Amino acid sequence: MQILITLNNIQDLSLRCISENKVAVLLLAGGQGTRLGVSYPKGMYDVGLPSRKTLFQIQAERIRKLEQLAEKQHTRKCCIPWYIMTSGRTMDMTKEFFIRHKYFGLKEENVFFFQQGMLPAVDFNGKIILEGKGKLAMAPDGNGGLYRALGTPNIMKDMETRGISCIHVYCVDNILVKVADPAFIGFCTLKGADCGAKVVEKTNPTEAVGVVCKVDGRYQVVEYSEITLETAEKRSADGRLLFNAGNIANHFFTLTFLKEIVRIHEPQLQHHVAQKKIPYVNTKGQLIKPDKPNGIKMEKFVFDIFQFAKTFVVYEVLREDEFSPLKNADSQDGKDNPTTARQALMSLHHRWILNAGGHFVDENGMRIPAIPRHGPAGTVTPEVSQNLKDGTDLPIKCEISPLVSYGGEGLEHLVNGQAFQPTLVIDENGVHELVKNGL
Ligand code: UTP
Repeated sequence: MQILITLNNIQDLSLRCISENKVAVLLLAGGQGTRLGVSYPKGMYDVGLPSRKTLFQIQAERIRKLEQLAEKQHTRKCCIPWYIMTSGRTMDMTKEFFIRHKYFGLKEENVFFFQQGMLPAVDFNGKIILEGKGKLAMAPDGNGGLYRALGTPNIMKDMETRGISCIHVYCVDNILVKVADPAFIGFCTLKGADCGAKVVEKTNPTEAVGVVCKVDGRYQVVEYSEITLETAEKRSADGRLLFNAGNIANHFFTLTFLKEIVRIHEPQLQHHVAQKKIPYVNTKGQLIKPDKPNGIKMEKFVFDIFQFAKTFVVYEVLREDEFSPLKNADSQDGKDNPTTARQALMSLHHRWILNAGGHFVDENGMRIPAIPRHGPAGTVTPEVSQNLKDGTDLPIKCEISPLVSYGGEGLEHLVNGQAFQPTLVIDENGVHELVKNGL
């Protein structure tokens, strides 16, 4: 007998696991965010959404919403514990931020902070760098420092005691991240995977993203810098890039697998060399902030354990739905910056409104097209081009609180058949048109 498995079945399976308190999330938030250039942890960054929510708040609210969805479906109280890896650079500020914001509505006992290790940074000649008089420049040991960090404190013990069976591991800087995504977790579980990676299609050979692939019979991520242009440009018969499984640092691990990594394989993981801008003191004792890389940091990578998986699965999602990382500060024609992150989220929420039967109108009541108006032969009209430059009307400004919808569900009764004037905010207090209401 053939059994048809649908996305709904998969999600139901995950929601059951969540309702049984078997799913945890683990956030990698020990990075220094040097490219973004702020002096505080990236999760505290506000990309300028109408609500002014930070990345931490958005993620916390997605966790809360998912707990509610699982509770509703299975009529029992549950929680998704949140393990947050910080570093010597981010620990104190992260903790204080959570305390100040009352854990964004989560229970304090379900949020755990732990710290990864640090290593000295060196210059290109291998000499140690001083960040102050008599003070070594130390840097976190990469997001793969996770496995060493898990070996020391009580985190894994806590997971065991709670009966956790699988963990969703992700990076702090992806504004679209579906924390504890039931579709991803359900898919990995159904496939009997001990390790899984979510990917997006890499469409441009020179895009700076690592690809998940098999090398000499072992799964791994090959970084963009480690692959020749000739190989990167190879295409399959259907025209898609041959190596197109772009890694977005969204991983599924069973607890059993993680325990095995920590106990057996962690020491075998190699350090990678990352060229970075490392502030230093010169011989006069002045602090210098270099504007180009002046040294190296030694880092382990979170994905370096794929090779040890017995059953490894890859799960592809749409980039525009799930991946928009915050890496850089805003700049003209920039990439992966606060503007692109903000626009990616608003554009996703715009699509949710359209799917739920709502639409947008301008101040004259004219329907705003879902896609920019193009002139003849696909040219962009001067008006749209100006708006694109100003960033004024693309995408339509709208934001839906994660407390209202986790992934676009549950919006019909709020928006179906209705016209809205941007800026639209939908939160737990209702539907608000900010301009119309003079806000
Ligand atoms: P990145 O490699 O983008 O580094 O981290 P970063 O520190 O955020 O930014 P740059 O390179 O200094 O500009 C990807 C993810 O891995 C985490 C980061 O917090 C981010 O979520 N990370 C990185 C760690 O948890 N620890 C590390 O040592 C490095």
